[in-house]
Amino acid sequence: MEKLFEDIGILDNAGQENCETFQVSKEQNTGKSRKLYIESYGCQMNFSDSEIVASILQKEGFDTTSDINTADVVFLNTCSIREKAEQTVRNRLSHINGLKKHKPELMVGVLGCMAERLKAKLLEEEKIVDLVAGPDAYRDLPKLILQVDEGEKAVNTFLSREETYADISPVRLNSNGVTAFISIMRGCDNMCTFCVVPFTRGRERSRDPLSIVAEARDLFEKGYREVTLLGQNVDSYKWSEQENNKAWIEKKGVQDVVTFAGLLEKVAQVSPELRIRFSTSHPKDITDDVLHVMARYENICKYIHLPVQSGNSRILGLMNRGYSREWYLGKVQRIREILGEDCGLSSDMIAGFCSETEEEHQETLSLMDAVQFDFAYMFFYSERPGTLAEKKFKDDVSAEAKNRRLSEIIDKQRDHSLQRNRRDVGKTFRVLIEGYSRRSDQFLQGRNTANKVIVFPKENFTRGQYVNVYVEDCTGGTLVGKAV
Ligand code: SAH
Ligand code: SF4
Ligand code: F3S
Repeated sequence: MEKLFEDIGILDNAGQENCETFQVSKEQNTGKSRKLYIESYGCQMNFSDSEIVASILQKEGFDTTSDINTADVVFLNTCSIREKAEQTVRNRLSHINGLKKHKPELMVGVLGCMAERLKAKLLEEEKIVDLVAGPDAYRDLPKLILQVDEGEKAVNTFLSREETYADISPVRLNSNGVTAFISIMRGCDNMCTFCVVPFTRGRERSRDPLSIVAEARDLFEKGYREVTLLGQNVDSYKWSEQENNKAWIEKKGVQDVVTFAGLLEKVAQVSPELRIRFSTSHPKDITDDVLHVMARYENICKYIHLPVQSGNSRILGLMNRGYSREWYLGKVQRIREILGEDCGLSSDMIAGFCSETEEEHQETLSLMDAVQFDFAYMFFYSERPGTLAEKKFKDDVSAEAKNRRLSEIIDKQRDHSLQRNRRDVGKTFRVLIEGYSRRSDQFLQGRNTANKVIVFPKENFTRGQYVNVYVEDCTGGTLVGKAV
């Protein structure tokens, strides 16, 4: 299958090692009349959306390009999660402004979360922008482009309660032909007070389970061996007769509510040779049912991304996360009881949320000690306009304190990642080969069930194969071994 996008870089977050990647559309030459260049920022869901955009515009006479200089239309699919993410996009727009001076007919569009947050205001703030389209408006892009062709500016930031793009077959983002992402839901109803996502992505809605299973089956038949089911809170996935339509149930013979546990099971049954991952789980919603399904199916990977955000119950309350420190620790215990100590566990952490004291920050560090995450994405709090925290609380932790607390969190995590990896030395894991290692084409790399990257000598193995690898050594980020 053709690859339409490639990872081209890592943008570091505040000079720290936690990263945000961005992707650029690939060269495609099927003789279409216009060239589309898309740059995508933010989370995996945004990258998936860019595939939907590419798929919609393919039918409208566009080939994608990886060279912005040859583009007729430039789209930035944007992220608003932290101030820095938006600043990156504004810097990109001023660079593109330079290009437009030489090529006045270049069309510039802003898609995604920043488009949704700022709406038509973006046209005033960034004069170079011709088109603004929110995450639920992509079917309207052909019309919006036509409008710009006719000399007008075009905006659609309507948020839908139903749109899941279920019928649009995305043009595959993944280069390796082995692993792919499947969106299973859109939006978020959680209202964590720090978070802009409920405002930029709208209400939560789940996608038809049969279309998800069909997509997984299609990927497997095309040679893919791993799918990651995506949603802001996969544990609240729900497809029911009431919430969706009756006719569908009658036609396809599905009677009850399909929960995330049920969906996982259906996808796992596509083939024992297809690995299943998912992200993101929410500590308040992940159920024992999900853990039991994971335990029952060998091909559901034993790895959970379970963002804690803070280790202090008062701060968790202010964040409106819906759980306490004790509840979170209880969930971790449950995970380890049902799935074992080797189940991979990772987290997101926010340092310096409104009114966080030094003692409360210490509780985040002590929770990390208690859990020992394999991996974490770590950020300092960045106030976002329109969020509940912006309205209700003061962003009163100084930049110095935020930075220092974040470094302490990062240092601790670095320690834990190394310790957790050291436990794996001397063990043998089944690895799905994804491609060459980053450093050398004499080595291959893949991941084990717990999501750890393992590098080993190539010998005669190729991507897409499963191989057992004995781990001989490790760093904080990688296990190193040899095939056995
Ligand atoms: N739906 C996922 C997270 C989506 S956003 C979940 O609930 O876990 C990814 C991460 O960005 C969050 O987990 C949080 O750690 C971080 N984040 C979100 N808003 C932020 C803000 N205003 N400042 C700093 N980090 C933030
Ligand atoms: Fe944001 Fe919370 Fe929803 Fe995650 S669960 S997207 S942090 S509101
Ligand atoms: Fe960013 Fe929107 Fe994703 S704010 S993290 S691109 S949902």
